[in-house]
Amino acid sequence: MNKKDYNYLNNLIDRNTKREKNIYQLSPNSFSNKDMIEGIKVLLSKKITMSNIVKKFEKEFAKFIGSKYALMVNSGSSANLLATFAMINPMKKNKLKPGDECLIPSLCWSTSLWPIVQAGLKPKFVDVDPKTLNVSLKNLEKKISKKTKAMVVVNILGNSTDMQKLKKLINKHKIKLIEDNCESLGSKFKNKYLGSFGEFGTFSFYYSHQITSGEGGMIACNDKKNYKIIYSLRSHGWDRGINNNNNDFNFINSGFNLRPTEVSAAIGYNQFKKLNYFKKIRSLNRKKIISKIKNSKKWKNQFTFINSNKNVKPSWFGLPILINKKYLNKKNKFLSYLNRNGIETRPIISGNFLNQPSIKLYKLNTKKEFFRGAQEIQNRGFFIGIHVKEITNKQLKLLENKLLKISEI
Ligand SMILES: Cc1ncc(COP(=O)(O)O)c(C=O)c1O
Repeated sequence: MNKKDYNYLNNLIDRNTKREKNIYQLSPNSFSNKDMIEGIKVLLSKKITMSNIVKKFEKEFAKFIGSKYALMVNSGSSANLLATFAMINPMKKNKLKPGDECLIPSLCWSTSLWPIVQAGLKPKFVDVDPKTLNVSLKNLEKKISKKTKAMVVVNILGNSTDMQKLKKLINKHKIKLIEDNCESLGSKFKNKYLGSFGEFGTFSFYYSHQITSGEGGMIACNDKKNYKIIYSLRSHGWDRGINNNNNDFNFINSGFNLRPTEVSAAIGYNQFKKLNYFKKIRSLNRKKIISKIKNSKKWKNQFTFINSNKNVKPSWFGLPILINKKYLNKKNKFLSYLNRNGIETRPIISGNFLNQPSIKLYKLNTKKEFFRGAQEIQNRGFFIGIHVKEITNKQLKLLENKLLKISEI
C-alpha cells in the first residue's frame, strides 16, 4: 500500500473512531490504526479465508510460546473445544473414554467447562485459592481418584498456580493436561510461558484480552500427532495442507469448521508484535493504580489486591480486587455507584461457576458441594481494567476518589 493510500485510511479511521471521555472503561479499544489497516489490506485483496497470514501468525506464535506447533482458530472457546475433543479422538493414543473424570477449577469460564461435558467426559470441580484466584493444589490432590484421567487447568487473569507442583502431581497420576490460558497470554512460570505446560495450551484473542483480533484464538502443542488431530478437527476432518497426497478431499477424521479468517489473523498478528510492549505498560499502570490507592489519605485497608503467585511473571489485563470484610455489606451499592460514576467493573470471571443456572440444567452438582474459595471470590471480588495506554494522573485521581468512596457510602 502506498503512503498516500495509507494516510487516507489512517485519517478515515481517525474520523470514525469514537472516543469515550470521563470514563474508566473495562477494556477500551486497544486497536491501533495500523492493526485495522492490516485487516483492510486483506479485504482489499479479496482473499479473506484462511491462508498465508494465518500460517505466519501460527509459526511466530509457536516460536514465541516455545511450543512446536500452534494452530489458529476463530475463538478461545473453539481452541478449548478442539483441545478437549482431541482427548477423545480415535486417532489419539490412550484416548479418554466416556465417563472419564476431568478436573476443572470452580472458577472458570463457561467454555472451559462445556467442551468436557460435550465430549462425554465427567467434570469434577476443584476449589480455588482466593489469594491467587487459581486452582488450590491441596484441594486438587483430594479430588484425584482412579477415574480421573484429565484436567483443564484455567490460568486466571494473568496468574497461575504453582505449575511445577501441578505437573508433578498430575504426572504421578498419569492425568492428561489441557491448559486454558485464554486469560494469560505472555505470563511465565519460572521463565516458561503459560500455555506450554499441558498437552494443549489454549489462547483467546477476544476484544478485552492481552492482544486481540476481535475474535480469535490459538492452540499450542508439542506432539506431531496431537497437531494432526486438531488440524483435521479444525477444518471438516480433512488433511488438506498437511498430507502430500494430492487429494484435497481426503477426510481422515471427524470435524468442525472453526477456521479463523485471514482478516483476524492480519489484525491479531500485528497486535501480537506489541504483546511485550502492552505487557510492560499494563504492569506499570497496575503498579501506579495500587500505589495511588494505598498511599491515599482515604486508604483504610478497604481492599485486598491480588498479587502474582511465586515464580509467576504475570501479563495482566484486569485488576482483580477483593473487598475487605468491614466493607463487604456495601458491595452492591458500591458497584452500582462505580458504574454510575464512570468506572466500569465486572465479576472475577463469572464468580463461583457452580452457582450458574446451567450447572443445575445439566445436574453437575446434585450433591450441592460447597466451594469455599470460589464462593469467597464471588462474594468479595470484582475487577477493573488495566489499559494499554499509560494511565493519566486524571484517571488515577478518578480511581482514587471513586474506589475509596466505599467507606463513605
Ligand atoms: C478462561 C477463559 N477460557 C476461554 C474463554 C473463551 O475465549 P473466547 O471469548 O475467545 O471464546 C475465555 C473468554 O474470555 C476465558 O476467560
